Amino acid sequence: MTNSKRKSSSNGNIADPASASVPEKKIKGVKEEKEDLSNAAVVVEVPASNDRDSPVRISGRKTEKKEEKTKTIGSAEIAKGTEPPKEFIQAKRHFTEALVDGRVHFKLGDDGYVQAGEGEDSYICRVVEMFEGLDGESYFCAQWFYRAKDTVIQACSNLIDDKRVFLSEIKDDNPLDCLIEKLKIVRVPLDAEVGTKRSMLSNGNYYYDMSYLVPFSTFQNLPPDNEVDGNESDSTISSESDSNVAVAKVMKIKDDKRSVMRMLDLYSGCGAMSTGLCLGANIANVNLVTRWAVDLNTYACESLKLNHPETEVRNESAEDFLLLLKEWEKLCQSFSLVGGGDPMSVEKDETENEEDDGVDDNGVGLDEEIFEVEKVLSICYGDPKEIKKRGLYLKIRWKNYGPEEDTWEPIDGLGDCQDKIKQFVVEGFSSKILPLPGDVDVICGGPPCQGISGFNRFRNKESPLDDEKNKQLVVYMDIVEYLKPRFALMENVVDIVKFAKGFLGRYALGRLVSMNYQARVGLMTAGSYGLPQFRMRMFMWGARPSEKLPQYPLPTHNVVTRGVSPVEFDSNAVIHDDIKGAELEKELYIGDAISDLPPVSNDEERDKIPYGDTPKTEFQKFIRLKKKDMPGFVGIDSSDHLLYDHQPYKLNEDDYQRSCQIPKRKGACFRDLKGVRVRDDNRVEWDPDVERVYLPSGKPLVPDYAMSFVEGRSTKPFARLWWDEIVPTVVTRAEPHNQAILHPLQDRVLTIRENARLQGFPDYYKLLGPIKERYMQVGNAVAVPVARALGYSLAMSCKGTATEGAVFILPKKFPNL
Ligand SMILES: C[S@@+](CC[C@H](N)C(=O)[O-])C[C@H]1O[C@@H](n2cnc3c(N)ncnc32)[C@H](O)[C@@H]1O
Repeated sequence: MTNSKRKSSSNGNIADPASASVPEKKIKGVKEEKEDLSNAAVVVEVPASNDRDSPVRISGRKTEKKEEKTKTIGSAEIAKGTEPPKEFIQAKRHFTEALVDGRVHFKLGDDGYVQAGEGEDSYICRVVEMFEGLDGESYFCAQWFYRAKDTVIQACSNLIDDKRVFLSEIKDDNPLDCLIEKLKIVRVPLDAEVGTKRSMLSNGNYYYDMSYLVPFSTFQNLPPDNEVDGNESDSTISSESDSNVAVAKVMKIKDDKRSVMRMLDLYSGCGAMSTGLCLGANIANVNLVTRWAVDLNTYACESLKLNHPETEVRNESAEDFLLLLKEWEKLCQSFSLVGGGDPMSVEKDETENEEDDGVDDNGVGLDEEIFEVEKVLSICYGDPKEIKKRGLYLKIRWKNYGPEEDTWEPIDGLGDCQDKIKQFVVEGFSSKILPLPGDVDVICGGPPCQGISGFNRFRNKESPLDDEKNKQLVVYMDIVEYLKPRFALMENVVDIVKFAKGFLGRYALGRLVSMNYQARVGLMTAGSYGLPQFRMRMFMWGARPSEKLPQYPLPTHNVVTRGVSPVEFDSNAVIHDDIKGAELEKELYIGDAISDLPPVSNDEERDKIPYGDTPKTEFQKFIRLKKKDMPGFVGIDSSDHLLYDHQPYKLNEDDYQRSCQIPKRKGACFRDLKGVRVRDDNRVEWDPDVERVYLPSGKPLVPDYAMSFVEGRSTKPFARLWWDEIVPTVVTRAEPHNQAILHPLQDRVLTIRENARLQGFPDYYKLLGPIKERYMQVGNAVAVPVARALGYSLAMSCKGTATEGAVFILPKKFPNL
């Protein structure tokens, strides 16, 4: 008999699922009930040729821990992915079959329940190896299935069919008699309805259609069919190379290099996220275009349209947009432009109005003036006339009237103008003014979840989705469900995986998985992609089963991620495993980003000015590029290369006076003003020897709120930024009362353009709206370099050139390829 070796599950590759944490299955002490375990199993030995050659084997658990208290898998410790210590155990011999407890006959590749703790559901596994250890005990190696509640979806597992389980790549060894019952777990195709999957179950107990990998909370396509099912013990032991092949097999390799990929940007703001995604994808030769964008904010929409004339920008709520899409599909069906629906249902019933009651459909007396529709201009869902009647409306140009007389009219009242409506729908259908299901390749967006903001003290922790302010997460997923894009990318604040035990993040992931999307979650720091800003955000990828799930681009710059990711989502941070081994560029500082910009005063009124100085750093050279020179820009460049939006929010006279008195040096803030003293415990107090100073307005030089902010411990009020600093995050409100936002050398806050630079907006990206609104657009944005790197990743998935694993290294000097 030869002793055997099992491969280590860890290969050091960050992206390899096998390097995922191995949750330690702690199995109740069955052992002590049995005197001699080997008697419990009737064994059929593996032929010698199947035995592995090395004398040692690696166990995922320590045998001494057998008697430890049982735990339910899927708890925080699993998601957090801590790897239990590994220990070498020698295997004396292998076998392919065993009669466990003298009653259950297990073969290699069989599925089974494994004993769990009292009151807990049994664990579910596949038996991938059976062997006798040198200690004479019989063991099996389990490859674990996770129920949805055991995955990171946890509290939102109600979204997932309870017959559905997920195959993990986590394997570990356990005493053979922990197997308590045989199960039938059927593999089904991912891209099928729940009902179909259930019908394929036949007399099976569960079905599975996806892998679940702990790093980046990944749900993805399974390896090819025979890999996990095979009864050959070898096939379950070495999965690494096979899984590479697997992905190549399941994904469609597309050669759509220059064919247009259409994106819908939801909650688009001024369009930073989609702008970055398009630039990145185009750098990789995938022609991604933002075809539609939706945002409630009029100014943000205007900014987006100004920079993306090719985009249909819809200034409306996402919930109305979804209702509109559904109505639009019906309209297209009624004019037989797409299949289904009730043909011509909007057409006027010929029998209607046969009797002349002297009043038309709109209640207009016939002797009153009749208006004739010249053209239908636009469509929306809502209450544009503000008559408290929500529904589908058309914007009408009236015959013999100009644009100033255009009005929104409910479609029901336009029964007489079917030809005009038809013309509008036919034209709109062919120019795709609105997407129909299947039209959208990519949906991106960051649904606002104000209910989870760290600043919001009234957050509904018990039931976060009941909070109106978090409703947009549901709307976002409903739109994905309706349009079924090939890919989805959702951005949000990290709080989404923190607040209420990460409920909202789990919900979003659960929705994607319930819609058969592959999905994964990454936490990315803006500064790591070449910005002087930390700003960590959550990015959730979704991809249809036919696609390759996009990866996360690893950092290009050496910015230490600030430790804000919750412990349970530690394995979701997009960072280099071995920071020392990574070739990273130097971190950027505020000076690198803005030191070339001309001085402007607190009351600068010019919206565009010449640059004046030449760029001083690589960053400045890059950010100043004309559109036509920007890597990945596709379109017409008519820009004038002047400097736009270099205006500060104008401080009121008192704040301006205060700012003037803040010294021009690193770390200066209100603490440097006359009358303030700092105690040993780093709290401020009034200096009793100094009389309180007053401004010409009669207000105090040092306001009370500055003294009491964070109980006197803060250095933020009226703080100057300095050239060699990195800002925590670019904010939406540019006022100096509780955040560091004063320019290093000028008596004003950072301008809109300076903030835009810290967010990586190219200088050619102009913004519209009042100054406060423009700050808001910039502060709300996804940092452009992060989106650009993600766009590159998306393109690699589209082209089928993405490598294996959840992360990849961007080409050197990206985006300057
Ligand atoms: C975080 S910002 C998005 C920023 C954008 N992704 C970017 O990169 O520039 C969120 C946006 O959601 C918009 N918004 C809020 N509620 C909305 C709703 N119900 N429907 C549509 N847009 C909404 C806000 O106006 C805001 O522009």
